[in-house]
Amino acid sequence: MTRPVKSPFRAVFIMRSRYTEDCLAEALIRGVRQYVILGAGLDTFAYRQPSWASSLRIYEIDHPASQEWKRERLEVAEVKIPENLTFAPIDFEITSLREGLATAGFDFRTPSFFSLLGVTQYLTIEATESIFELVQSLPQGTEIVFEFIVPEDLIPADEASVFATLASFSAERGEPWLTRFRPAELETKLTGLGFSQVTHLSPSAANERYFRGRHDELAAWSGAQMMRAVV
Ligand SMILES: C[S@@+](CC[C@H](N)C(=O)[O-])C[C@H]1O[C@@H](n2cnc3c(N)ncnc32)[C@H](O)[C@@H]1O
Repeated sequence: MTRPVKSPFRAVFIMRSRYTEDCLAEALIRGVRQYVILGAGLDTFAYRQPSWASSLRIYEIDHPASQEWKRERLEVAEVKIPENLTFAPIDFEITSLREGLATAGFDFRTPSFFSLLGVTQYLTIEATESIFELVQSLPQGTEIVFEFIVPEDLIPADEASVFATLASFSAERGEPWLTRFRPAELETKLTGLGFSQVTHLSPSAANERYFRGRHDELAAWSGAQMMRAVV
C-alpha cells in the first residue's frame, strides 16, 4: 500500500514547525534570546509571532537566491517586516555560519535557539556538521531542532514511493538530496560533539504527542524525523 502524497503529507510540515516552536517556547524560559531560522524558506514564524516571542531577536538565514525571492514575495503581499527580524543571506556550502552570523550582528555570548527544517537533505554532510559544531560552541542552553531524512532501508513500504518521488522531483529541479541520517548514529555524533542533551522525536513519539486520537489521515511520517540537541 502507498500513502497518497498530498494532503496527509502536510502533517510533516505542520508537525515540524509545531515541535520546533514548542521547544523554542521552553528555551525562552531558560533564557534564550535569539532565534536563528536556518534555511528559512517560507517559514512564517516571524510574521505571526506570538506575544511571548517579542523578547527574541529573530534571524532568517537562507540561500541568497531563496531569501531574495521571499523578500520580493513579502513586499508584493505587503507583509510588514517585524522590528525584531534580521535577514542574513548565506550559502552554507560557501560561507561558514559563524561568519554569516557575525556579519548579521548575532551575539555569540547569548544562549540561542536554531531551527533547521527541511534543509539537511540538500546539504553536504560537511556543511551540516559544521552547523552542528558552531551551535555546540555557543553558550550553555543553546539548542538546535532539526529535521532529517532517513536512509531508504529505514523508510517503511507504505511511504517508500512518496519519498522516492520527492527525492527524484528535487533532483530534477537541480536540488538533489545529498544527505540522510540514521537516528542512532546521529545521536551518537551529536553526543560526541559535546551536546549535553540529545532527543530523538521518533515517529511513534510524534504520533503520541501531536496526532493521538485523530480520526483523519494526519500522522507522523517515518521518512522525515526530528531531533533536538541542547548545549
Ligand atoms: C524545503 S525548503 C525548507 C524551508 C523551511 N525551512 C520550511 O520548514 O519549510 C529548503 C530550504 O533550504 C535552503 N537551502 C538549501 N541549500 C542551502 C544552502 N546551501 N545554503 C543555504 N540554504 C540552503 C533553501 O534555500 C530553502 O529555503
